[in-house]
Amino acid sequence: MKKSLKIKFKIQKIMYLKQMVYFAKFPSQQLYYKKLLKNEINKLKNLTNNRDGEKVNSNNQREFTIEELAQYDGSNGKPAYVGINGIVYDLSNEITWGGGTHFGLYSGKDLTNEFMQCHGKEEILNNLPKIGVLKK
Ligand code: HEM
Repeated sequence: MKKSLKIKFKIQKIMYLKQMVYFAKFPSQQLYYKKLLKNEINKLKNLTNNRDGEKVNSNNQREFTIEELAQYDGSNGKPAYVGINGIVYDLSNEITWGGGTHFGLYSGKDLTNEFMQCHGKEEILNNLPKIGVLKK
Protein backbone atom coordinates (compact mmCIF):
# COMPACT_ATOMS: atom_id res chain seq x y z
CA MET A 1 0.00 0.00 0.00
CA LYS A 2 1.31 3.44 -0.89
CA LYS A 3 2.76 5.26 2.14
CA SER A 4 0.54 8.32 1.67
CA LEU A 5 -2.50 6.06 1.79
CA LYS A 6 -1.17 4.30 4.91
CA ILE A 7 -0.74 7.70 6.57
CA LYS A 8 -4.26 8.79 5.49
CA PHE A 9 -5.84 5.65 6.99
CA LYS A 10 -3.76 6.04 10.17
CA ILE A 11 -5.00 9.64 10.58
CA GLN A 12 -8.62 8.53 10.04
CA LYS A 13 -8.17 5.82 12.67
CA ILE A 14 -6.69 8.37 15.11
CA MET A 15 -9.64 10.74 14.53
CA TYR A 16 -12.07 7.87 15.15
CA LEU A 17 -10.29 6.78 18.37
CA LYS A 18 -10.25 10.40 19.61
CA GLN A 19 -14.02 10.40 19.20
CA MET A 20 -14.31 7.10 21.07
CA VAL A 21 -12.20 8.50 23.94
CA TYR A 22 -14.40 11.60 24.01
CA PHE A 23 -17.70 9.72 23.99
CA ALA A 24 -16.61 6.85 26.25
CA LYS A 25 -19.19 6.33 29.04
CA PHE A 26 -16.92 4.55 31.54
CA PRO A 27 -13.35 5.30 32.70
CA SER A 28 -12.27 1.73 31.76
CA GLN A 29 -13.62 2.28 28.26
CA GLN A 30 -11.82 5.63 28.02
CA LEU A 31 -8.54 4.03 29.19
CA TYR A 32 -8.93 1.29 26.60
CA TYR A 33 -9.42 3.75 23.74
CA LYS A 34 -6.65 6.03 25.01
CA LYS A 35 -4.21 3.07 24.86
CA LEU A 36 -5.28 2.26 21.30
CA LEU A 37 -4.97 5.93 20.38
CA LYS A 38 -1.43 6.14 21.79
CA ASN A 39 -0.38 3.08 19.77
CA GLU A 40 -1.83 4.52 16.56
CA ILE A 41 -0.12 7.87 17.14
CA ASN A 42 3.22 6.08 17.66
CA LYS A 43 2.69 4.09 14.47
CA LEU A 44 1.92 7.32 12.60
CA LYS A 45 5.12 8.84 14.00
CA ASN A 46 7.05 5.80 12.78
CA LEU A 47 5.48 6.13 9.33
CA THR A 48 6.19 9.84 9.05
CA ASN A 49 9.70 9.44 10.52
CA ASN A 50 10.45 6.69 8.02
CA ARG A 51 10.81 4.28 10.86
CA ASP A 52 8.43 1.84 9.34
CA GLY A 53 10.29 -1.43 8.83
CA GLU A 54 12.61 -0.75 11.80
CA LYS A 55 12.35 -3.32 14.51
CA VAL A 56 10.52 -2.09 17.58
CA ASN A 57 9.67 -4.06 20.75
CA SER A 58 6.35 -4.20 22.59
CA ASN A 59 7.17 -0.84 24.26
CA ASN A 60 7.65 0.65 20.83
CA GLN A 61 11.37 1.03 21.52
CA ARG A 62 13.69 0.60 18.57
CA GLU A 63 15.66 -2.65 18.98
CA PHE A 64 19.27 -3.10 17.89
CA THR A 65 21.31 -6.28 17.65
CA ILE A 66 25.05 -5.88 18.24
CA GLU A 67 25.51 -6.31 14.48
CA GLU A 68 23.00 -3.55 13.67
CA LEU A 69 24.57 -1.24 16.28
CA ALA A 70 27.98 -1.73 14.58
CA GLN A 71 26.61 0.09 11.50
CA TYR A 72 26.34 3.30 13.54
CA ASP A 73 30.04 3.92 14.20
CA GLY A 74 30.04 7.61 13.35
CA SER A 75 32.34 7.14 10.37
CA ASN A 76 31.71 8.91 7.03
CA GLY A 77 28.97 11.04 8.52
CA LYS A 78 27.03 8.06 9.89
CA PRO A 79 25.29 8.41 13.28
CA ALA A 80 27.35 7.44 16.32
CA TYR A 81 25.38 5.15 18.64
CA VAL A 82 26.66 3.48 21.82
CA GLY A 83 25.05 0.81 23.99
CA ILE A 84 25.27 1.25 27.78
CA ASN A 85 23.45 -1.15 30.17
CA GLY A 86 21.13 -2.31 27.39
CA ILE A 87 20.14 1.21 26.24
CA VAL A 88 21.29 2.71 22.92
CA TYR A 89 22.38 6.35 23.12
CA ASP A 90 22.96 8.77 20.23
CA LEU A 91 26.37 10.45 20.58
CA SER A 92 26.34 11.93 17.06
CA ASN A 93 26.05 15.50 18.39
CA GLU A 94 28.43 15.01 21.31
CA ILE A 95 31.51 17.24 20.90
CA THR A 96 33.70 14.79 22.84
CA TRP A 97 32.66 12.03 20.39
CA GLY A 98 33.76 13.71 17.14
CA GLY A 99 33.75 11.26 14.20
CA GLY A 100 32.34 8.59 16.51
CA THR A 101 35.52 8.23 18.56
CA HIS A 102 36.26 9.18 22.17
CA PHE A 103 39.59 8.75 23.92
CA GLY A 104 40.52 5.71 21.87
CA LEU A 105 36.99 4.28 21.97
CA TYR A 106 34.82 3.72 18.90
CA SER A 107 31.03 4.04 18.78
CA GLY A 108 28.81 1.36 17.25
CA LYS A 109 29.47 -0.93 20.24
CA ASP A 110 28.29 -1.90 23.70
CA LEU A 111 30.63 0.19 25.89
CA THR A 112 29.06 -0.57 29.27
CA ASN A 113 32.33 -1.71 30.88
CA GLU A 114 34.32 1.21 29.50
CA PHE A 115 31.68 3.67 30.67
CA MET A 116 31.59 2.20 34.15
CA GLN A 117 35.41 2.25 34.39
CA CYS A 118 35.79 5.80 33.07
CA HIS A 119 32.65 7.65 34.12
CA GLY A 120 30.01 5.47 35.79
CA LYS A 121 27.96 8.68 36.31
CA GLU A 122 24.28 8.49 35.36
CA GLU A 123 24.16 12.30 34.85
CA ILE A 124 26.24 12.00 31.69
CA LEU A 125 23.75 9.47 30.31
CA ASN A 126 20.72 11.47 31.40
CA ASN A 127 21.80 14.24 29.02
CA LEU A 128 22.12 11.92 26.03
CA PRO A 129 19.30 11.10 23.57
CA LYS A 130 18.06 7.51 24.09
CA ILE A 131 17.08 6.03 20.76
CA GLY A 132 16.43 2.40 21.53
CA VAL A 133 17.46 -0.75 23.32
CA LEU A 134 19.95 -3.52 22.73
CA LYS A 135 18.31 -6.78 21.79
CA LYS A 136 18.99 -9.38 24.51
C1 HEM B 1 37.98 4.77 27.94
C2 HEM B 1 36.93 5.25 28.59
C3 HEM B 1 36.63 6.73 28.63
C4 HEM B 1 37.44 7.78 28.89
C5 HEM B 1 38.95 7.76 29.21
C6 HEM B 1 36.63 8.99 28.81
C7 HEM B 1 37.11 10.25 29.04
C8 HEM B 1 36.35 11.40 29.00
C9 HEM B 1 36.83 12.73 29.30
C10 HEM B 1 38.28 13.10 29.69
C11 HEM B 1 35.80 13.59 29.15
C12 HEM B 1 35.79 15.12 29.36
C13 HEM B 1 36.08 15.74 28.04
C14 HEM B 1 35.98 17.22 28.11
O1 HEM B 1 35.23 17.72 28.92
O2 HEM B 1 36.61 17.82 27.26
C15 HEM B 1 34.67 12.80 28.76
C16 HEM B 1 33.41 13.34 28.51
C17 HEM B 1 32.36 12.58 28.11
N1 HEM B 1 32.34 11.20 27.95
FE1 HEM B 1 33.84 9.94 28.22
N2 HEM B 1 35.36 8.66 28.50
C18 HEM B 1 35.31 7.30 28.38
C19 HEM B 1 34.23 6.54 28.06
C20 HEM B 1 33.01 7.05 27.73
C21 HEM B 1 31.90 6.26 27.30
C22 HEM B 1 31.87 4.75 27.13
C23 HEM B 1 30.87 7.11 27.04
C24 HEM B 1 29.52 6.70 26.49
C25 HEM B 1 28.39 7.26 26.72
C26 HEM B 1 31.35 8.46 27.33
C27 HEM B 1 30.60 9.60 27.21
C28 HEM B 1 31.07 10.86 27.49
C29 HEM B 1 30.26 12.07 27.36
C30 HEM B 1 28.81 12.13 26.90
C31 HEM B 1 31.06 13.14 27.75
C32 HEM B 1 30.67 14.63 27.78
C33 HEM B 1 30.19 14.88 29.17
C34 HEM B 1 29.80 16.31 29.41
O3 HEM B 1 29.65 17.06 28.48
O4 HEM B 1 29.59 16.62 30.55
N3 HEM B 1 32.66 8.38 27.76
N4 HEM B 1 35.02 11.48 28.67
